[in-house]
Amino acid sequence: MTTTLTLATIALFFLALSSASAAAAACNKHDHRALLAFKDSFPHNSFPSWNSSARCCSWDYVTCTAGRVTNLYFAGNSLTPPPIDLNGSIPASIGDFPRLESIYLGGMRSLAGPVPPEIAKLKRLQSLVITDTSVAGPVPPFLSQLRALRQLTLASSMFAGSIPSSLGRLANLTSVYLQQNRLTGSIPGSLFSRTPNGSLAELDLSGNKLTGSVPKSFAGVGFATVRLSENGLVGDASFLFGRSKPLQLIALQRNKLAFDLSGVEYPSDLTYVDVSHNRIYGSISEQVLEGPVLHYLDVSYNELCGKIPSGGFFSTFIPGDYSHNKCLCGAPLSPCKSTGSL
Ligand SMILES: *[C@@H]1O[C@H](CO)[C@@H](O)[C@H](O)[C@H]1NC(C)=O
Ligand SMILES: *[C@@H]1O[C@H](CO)[C@@H](O)[C@H](O)[C@H]1NC(C)=O
Ligand SMILES: *[C@@H]1O[C@H](CO)[C@@H](O)[C@H](O)[C@H]1NC(C)=O
Ligand SMILES: *[C@@H]1O[C@H](CO)[C@@H](O)[C@H](O)[C@H]1NC(C)=O
Repeated sequence: MTTTLTLATIALFFLALSSASAAAAACNKHDHRALLAFKDSFPHNSFPSWNSSARCCSWDYVTCTAGRVTNLYFAGNSLTPPPIDLNGSIPASIGDFPRLESIYLGGMRSLAGPVPPEIAKLKRLQSLVITDTSVAGPVPPFLSQLRALRQLTLASSMFAGSIPSSLGRLANLTSVYLQQNRLTGSIPGSLFSRTPNGSLAELDLSGNKLTGSVPKSFAGVGFATVRLSENGLVGDASFLFGRSKPLQLIALQRNKLAFDLSGVEYPSDLTYVDVSHNRIYGSISEQVLEGPVLHYLDVSYNELCGKIPSGGFFSTFIPGDYSHNKCLCGAPLSPCKSTGSL
């Protein structure tokens, strides 16, 4: 009796297992056709595992949920799936996967051309990553039609032109990584304007040719990380700091920012501050010792003055972190003059 029951259980188990793997390998016929169209846009033999006979959900670079393609992942530097270097431009057929939630196109220098407008059809797309490619053209305004988008990475490629202000319409967009391109113009103040209070934002625009000032509206954005380094930004950025903010990392180095650091309050989660190579003046407030535990601080090449706070994590920093300022003094620089101000 017990044996029969066990055998029946085992049989049921294997039945469940085989139907589960069959379901995993089954593939919607529209998605199947779209994948073959995608494949046909690239040189023959770019996708050895993609053929008309196989079930497309088991192909390399493809992930399905309930038989629908939800994730496409092409990387020039991965081990599994095998590395791939798509030679050509992103085909229009990318727009023919209605359930697609994420696209990763990374480390493929042969991938060129613009982002095709058909990508705007992907109403469920939450993550679009194009990084370390030769993809060029603008950061297209039609990306603002991707209402589900949470992460937008168009980085280390050849994007040029200005950042479209329409991206600010995307309420769920909290991660924007557009670093190391050739972007020009100013940073749109609309960015993250519809991001709900309490959600953490991440922004990286470093290594572009952006000009103008940092939008004042960013004072109200809950940045966890903000990187604006190596641009031509001017004016105030002190409002990015603030005692009750969730800020962990701020990198503003190598701009032309000019603001008074004296009144800046440092949030308690902050660990990394690089504001070097700007025109920042004032002093480093003792308040910095109250909240955060900084692991990295570089204020060199500015116009700062006054005594460097002493004690706590400040004992770990070296003269180079403070060098080339107007009149910073105290350890690790030379002692302040007796008549010197605090
Ligand atoms: C299709 O690909 C599978 C491997 O994914 C391979 O076993 C099969 O022989 C291929 N069929 C054709 C017709 O190339
Ligand atoms: C990409 O394809 C072009 C022809 O369309 C060819 O000239 C070039 O060598 C290819 N590049 C690579 C890296 O295979
Ligand atoms: C935005 O995110 C919320 C919360 O996760 C989700 O309920 C909503 O459907 C998303 N909006 C869109 C347009 O996908
Ligand atoms: C977010 O908080 C600010 C003040 O802290 C408030 O003015 C604003 O209306 C809030 N926005 C939302 C969408 O709740």
